[in-house]
Amino acid sequence: MDTYSLFLLPGDGIGPEVMAETEKVIAALEGDGAARFRLERGLVGGCAYDAHGEAISDGDMAKAQAADAVLLGAVGGPKWDGVPYAKRPEAGLLRLRKEMALYANLRPAICYPALADASSLKREVVDGLDLMIVRELTGGVYFGEPKAITDLPGGGQRAVDTQVYDTHEIERIGRVAFELARKRSGRLCSSEKRNVMLSGVLWHRTITALGARDYADVALEHHLADALGMQLVRHPKRFDVIVTDNLFGDMLSDVAAMLTGSIGMLPSASLGDVDPRTGRRKALYEPVHGSAPDIAGHGLANPRAMIGSLGMAMRYTFDRGDLADRIEAAIAAVLAQGCRTADIAADGPSLPTAAMGDAVVAALRAA
Ligand code: IPM
Ligand code: MG
Repeated sequence: MDTYSLFLLPGDGIGPEVMAETEKVIAALEGDGAARFRLERGLVGGCAYDAHGEAISDGDMAKAQAADAVLLGAVGGPKWDGVPYAKRPEAGLLRLRKEMALYANLRPAICYPALADASSLKREVVDGLDLMIVRELTGGVYFGEPKAITDLPGGGQRAVDTQVYDTHEIERIGRVAFELARKRSGRLCSSEKRNVMLSGVLWHRTITALGARDYADVALEHHLADALGMQLVRHPKRFDVIVTDNLFGDMLSDVAAMLTGSIGMLPSASLGDVDPRTGRRKALYEPVHGSAPDIAGHGLANPRAMIGSLGMAMRYTFDRGDLADRIEAAIAAVLAQGCRTADIAADGPSLPTAAMGDAVVAALRAA
């Protein structure tokens, strides 16, 4: 049997708590002979800064590059508000994305029937929702240069961020989205702000041309990003696959997360090109949620998104859709049984993080 190498970066805040539950799932899969893993652990974010003054060390970067897949918890927290900008916790995550060239971020948002009442929207609006946001992850305003705050001669300062996209960056993320749309409903929605941004004009033009040239079988529609935000809270089930840039994808995926009941529900996969050395895409899997420092250490975190991220690693890196399905089925089963962490409990009883992880493991073993 193949051994799957995973580099675990629990990070800050609730990251270590949700990672601990995911490690239970890894142990359970090994325990019943479904898979064999080689695990290594490292530091990213504020904890890495505390340990060696950088948001990720070169050594841990090398381990991330060498692993079959990276699993990351979350980074950041108020403790590091004062550290230099280049060393802030988020810089570790952005370095991983950029240096591993993880340009395709897949963020599936699924609303389980058992959780439809946990959403802030009406049950009929979200029940059965199943959408996939494909977010461009290594370009746009996150990385564009110049990016600086400068002093103005007459006093005051000027801040500049640069939104920049090249045709090839739009095309490669477009291909990922069209391929996914083809495997799902055959519908793709592309989103930008071409009414105010030239990067949106190029985005729109490039995706339209790509669709006409290579994906004529996929029905393509376009929405301005602000209007799409509105449509997502109005009629989210109209959408299936959504492709958008780095910043709009960041915002729209948080909106999509709340449609599912809680931001604690959404896993994500960040994929690069196939590495010729391994035949696998570079890959990092992480929850969409942040480090939630306000609840860290209290057993309140929902491990679903982190465990689901392991499931995505099984599917996309190891081609083990069977194990991904088992993990998803175990999560659906515990939700159907009524197990809830605080974020999805409404006014009902809730389980601590560790008990939720144990319930998922028990359901996995029973399947
Ligand atoms: C996300 C997060 C990150 C982002 C932060 C932590 C840098 O919000 O993955 O959605 O903005 O991409
Ligand atoms: Mg975000």
